[in-house]
Amino acid sequence: MEVKGLDKVKKISELGYIALRRPFIKRGKVTVQNEYENGWKAYSDILERMDSLESWLYLKGVEDQPLLCNVDGKISFAQVNMPEFNRNHLMKCIESNFKNITSITEFGSGLGRNLLYIKSRFPHIQCYGYELCENGVMIANRAKEKFGLDVQYSQLDFINDGSEKYIFPKTDIAFTMYALEQIPLKSDIAISHILSRVNMGSIHIEPVVENYPMTLRGVIGRIDHWKIDYLRNFETNLRKIPNITFSKQLIPTSHNPLMYPSIYCIKKMG
Ligand SMILES: C[S@@+](CC[C@H](N)C(=O)[O-])C[C@H]1O[C@@H](n2cnc3c(N)ncnc32)[C@H](O)[C@@H]1O
Repeated sequence: MEVKGLDKVKKISELGYIALRRPFIKRGKVTVQNEYENGWKAYSDILERMDSLESWLYLKGVEDQPLLCNVDGKISFAQVNMPEFNRNHLMKCIESNFKNITSITEFGSGLGRNLLYIKSRFPHIQCYGYELCENGVMIANRAKEKFGLDVQYSQLDFINDGSEKYIFPKTDIAFTMYALEQIPLKSDIAISHILSRVNMGSIHIEPVVENYPMTLRGVIGRIDHWKIDYLRNFETNLRKIPNITFSKQLIPTSHNPLMYPSIYCIKKMG
């Protein structure tokens, strides 16, 4: 349900107040590890309780709760299946830009669920996931065993690690989903490493603040993401990378009312 009128003014004022009051964070590898090692560990018991792949891909009681979010650019109080929404966008982008792929890698695969989704729908696609946090890799491995899907996961910091940690073969394409958001200024390094491991190109569903609308909520979103040290200068960094072309689309639907994600499709030339 879209939040309108006085309620909308009140909600946006609250979001602005929180954004202005929040302290600055300096995001680095340790910040991300502190946040996600513990965060992913909490899913260990949840995985135990899930008796089907579908219940693991959209967690009842966790992800199906109505909350204040951004739906098609409108501030809304709604129950949105965000994992499915993002996966649908990813698959549509693959279908339009990289037909007939047979392999894919996710960088920053978290609990590994996006790849289980792809493998279950497209069993002919070889799927690989790299993730910074050991707990994410551990739970992803347990889930693929539990649901009997052939996906491989490995621990990797795709900014700082050397070539010996890229243990999977090169794939047709790669993607990130809300992982570059954690890397404020080094997205050119991330993209270069990712592109060095693919034949065709990559897709990125990420909150790129430079694409946020110049509305009050869009501006508060920019302030909020700057203070929590999320991704910035993404497109400027992308333009530094030689021999690529890229296209983008704003998909202004997110679990966060201050977030307007974009989907970028990068193609290697030659
Ligand atoms: C918001 S989660 C998204 C997880 C997954 N992509 C999804 O859609 O469910 C971001 C993930 O990116 C990972 N990440 C952040 N920086 C990374 C890096 N330098 N190397 C590998 N993974 C990283 C985090 O550990 C975290 O698991």
